[in-house]
Amino acid sequence: MYRTHTCGELRIEDAGKEVQLAGWVQKVRNLGAMTFIDLRDRYGITQLVVDEHSPAQVRETAAEIGREYVLQVNGRVVERSSKNPKMPTGDIEVAVGGINILNRSEVPPFTIEENSDGGDELRMKYRYLDLRRPPLQRNLTLRHRMAQSIRRFLDAENFLEIETPFLIKSTPEGARDFVVPSRMNEGQFYALPQSPQTLKQLLMVSGYDRYFQIVRCFRDEDLRADRQPEFTQIDCEMSFVEQEDVLELFERMAKYLFRETIGVEIDYSLPRMPWSEAMARYGSDKPDIRFGMEIHELTASAHGHGFGVFDSAAYVGAIAAKGCADYTRKQIDELTEFVKRPQVGAKGLVWIRFAADGSVKSSIDKFFAPEELAAMGKECGAEAGDLVMILAGDKMKTLAALNTLRLEMGDRLGLRDPHKFAPLWVVDFPLLEWDDETGRYYAMHHPFTSPKPEDIPLFDTDPGSIRANAYDFVVNGVEVGGGSIRIFDSQLQSRMFDLLGISHEVAQEQFGFLMNAFKYGAPPHGGIAFGFDRFCSLFGGSDSIRDYIAFPKNNAGRDVMLDAPSPISDAQLEELNLKVELKEK
Ligand code: AMO
Repeated sequence: MYRTHTCGELRIEDAGKEVQLAGWVQKVRNLGAMTFIDLRDRYGITQLVVDEHSPAQVRETAAEIGREYVLQVNGRVVERSSKNPKMPTGDIEVAVGGINILNRSEVPPFTIEENSDGGDELRMKYRYLDLRRPPLQRNLTLRHRMAQSIRRFLDAENFLEIETPFLIKSTPEGARDFVVPSRMNEGQFYALPQSPQTLKQLLMVSGYDRYFQIVRCFRDEDLRADRQPEFTQIDCEMSFVEQEDVLELFERMAKYLFRETIGVEIDYSLPRMPWSEAMARYGSDKPDIRFGMEIHELTASAHGHGFGVFDSAAYVGAIAAKGCADYTRKQIDELTEFVKRPQVGAKGLVWIRFAADGSVKSSIDKFFAPEELAAMGKECGAEAGDLVMILAGDKMKTLAALNTLRLEMGDRLGLRDPHKFAPLWVVDFPLLEWDDETGRYYAMHHPFTSPKPEDIPLFDTDPGSIRANAYDFVVNGVEVGGGSIRIFDSQLQSRMFDLLGISHEVAQEQFGFLMNAFKYGAPPHGGIAFGFDRFCSLFGGSDSIRDYIAFPKNNAGRDVMLDAPSPISDAQLEELNLKVELKEK
């Protein structure tokens, strides 16, 4: 037996016990006559003490050890003379009777403590050392606990956990596929699943009416804090359900996870906001409803005053920031620069200050009389003391910019407390999205999403306004999950492919397996997938999903620890009968 207790376990009640511990050396403090060693494992830290009463072998060994050495020690638990109330084990220490160095360690490249002195890239390179730090241990523990809760909940609801293959044919989720060459089928490639979408639909055809899987998905897309090239979904599908059934069950699961994982009780029915309302009020299909500062359209009032920027804009909209009327010129310039950044994309920022003394000042004083400015302020719900910020331009782009500005102001004003949660469903998404560049429609969710039955007549007249039976689970401005009721009728599926400009041949070639399966009795079905990593980071109060993944990739999609991706050997290429020839960019 290596140890009788963990390093987080001993308390004052254990004083007098002979114990054996094993762990890593966090810190050694040599005070001449006495040496203190902090011994760490994932349960905590216990202070060891070596002094003139310790056996000579112990004193000799203690003089030699350094940070991250792996030790096995035995000794007696004693009450500390100076207690540390900040540590759960802070009332005791272990008077060492024997030390065994199990392994030595080089000096680690950064400090392995609650807060490390190592930069991001360095810690990614030595991820196995970073993972020894308490914050990462807490994150992975949270992830584990959540996975257990999900399985408990879904098992009790009769869901079966079924694995699906990773080497598949590409699924049309919209991102690029990662591909894998096949040795046995020369010149052919598998695709790694962007999600098990079509496979879970096939399982419904097979009669497994409640399926789930905590499953890895692969998407070759540009990375951000909440996006990794491989990430994990809580993927679910159900048969003989309507949208209401899916929302009811997964709302219950979400609440269960909030309660079980972080002790947050959500005792109300989640709001359901149609997509069009989310866009109009928040400029986003994933609104952060923790705070107000909603967007108000001012197009009608803004037009016709001789101000070119407004007159030429298809849309003018604004937000009113509470108590910001006294923002300095510098602060306003900063916000103007902020909205002009390419990622935000606005051309400029128009402002109106409603000072506390009732006076009104604006960057468009020349074009608008004070009463007109006051009327616009009223439309935005501005009161004395508030700053109204107006953006103008193309409707969708301006709404998106207003959303970004609103979130920025929310951050500046401290309205986005990560420990406050405001979940909601966004429903009634459009079925299709028009792309100007290619001049065609794309499926907003995916091509298997069913239209609302009452909107089917619009297929021939106004496809752009068909609404889908699709829904997203949104929390604090993050899309945590998304799903839909599927098309299960092959004729309707064909019409959908027609709308998407996917020819019969291409549809057969890409989705023949699904279309064929639908000929053999497909039940009505629908489902949802939650981003597991995003759920974890949300619960942990962090923006970055990387902190909740044991071995993540960096922003360039590299694993800097494994140094992947990397070239493969000539022998491997030979076996695949492939030759790598890079094209000039
Ligand atoms: P969707 O593409 O919306 O739907 O994905 C579901 C959820 O997965 C998470 N997610 C990601 N998380 C981290 N990194 C990424 N690159 C990434 N991409 C997506 C998001 C998202 O809400 N098959 C459908 C689901 C269905 O219809 O049932 C699907 O994959 O949290």
